[in-house]
Amino acid sequence: MTDPLPPTRRNRASLTYKLRYAAQNPDKIRAYLSRMSRDLKFRVASRDHVAYYRSVMRSDTARNPEAAVGSRSHGRWLALGRMQFDYLLEHGLKPDDRMLEIGCGNLRAGWRFIDHLETGNYYGIDISPDILLAAQHTLVRQGLRDKMPHLALVGDLKLRFLPSAHFTVVHAHSVFSHSPLDVIDECLANVGRVLAPGGFFDFTFDRTEGAEHHVLREDFYYRTETLTRLAERHGFTARLMDDWEALPHGQSKIRVTRPEPAEGTAPA
Ligand SMILES: C[S@@+](CC[C@H](N)C(=O)[O-])C[C@H]1O[C@@H](n2cnc3c(N)ncnc32)[C@H](O)[C@@H]1O
Repeated sequence: MTDPLPPTRRNRASLTYKLRYAAQNPDKIRAYLSRMSRDLKFRVASRDHVAYYRSVMRSDTARNPEAAVGSRSHGRWLALGRMQFDYLLEHGLKPDDRMLEIGCGNLRAGWRFIDHLETGNYYGIDISPDILLAAQHTLVRQGLRDKMPHLALVGDLKLRFLPSAHFTVVHAHSVFSHSPLDVIDECLANVGRVLAPGGFFDFTFDRTEGAEHHVLREDFYYRTETLTRLAERHGFTARLMDDWEALPHGQSKIRVTRPEPAEGTAPA
């Protein structure tokens, strides 16, 4: 009884999907029920999504920080970080780039960016104090204290405390896959201010070609057009990165940039 639909058309929130999945994976039913009850508890106690997800991260990080950012083993944690790093390197990431990493987690990729960039050129932000403490352990373990990265706790994605036109690369891996649309909208409304001229913002998301849906309040599935249109509404050009699709990663990646000013037009 395999699922007849390809992964990008599955609706993981539908009853049919859940029943089929439970029948195929009886060993996972208990864990799912416990996630459901945690979801209910955190929803009741949280004033908004950020507070909710901060509680999820607290609970997951207490068990295992590497699993909390989505890696089942240390080997996977290393490989997923490497994949993100190699991709940006191939796209020209240079030591003098200034990088903002949104949802930096425990620096799965961040420690490689910090190592590559010039001192002080990495800025990681996250909503979870627990995972930021784990990020400090990663920094120490990798011997990167002298690179003076910034790690900051945030309560929203308005980015008000960051300088204008500063970051040449903004990166959010596996963050919008855990975010409702209003959080993504807030980010896209504000990220343009901190992007340096010619800079870009790469983010991954869980792509569906069917109905948009979410599983609990933890995993969100979007159609590409929803996110590209949202980015365009905030004045960006947005494109799905085909070379990322070829990599062994379940999520898709969109790059947003400011459109080039037409010839002879002064930049605004
Ligand atoms: C799956 S982890 C990925 C971490 C890191 N990007 C990586 O690839 O290892 C998602 C991270 O995003 C953070 N996060 C979730 N929503 C966020 C938001 N609205 N603003 C900033 N960080 C957020 C979580 O706390 C968590 O550390």
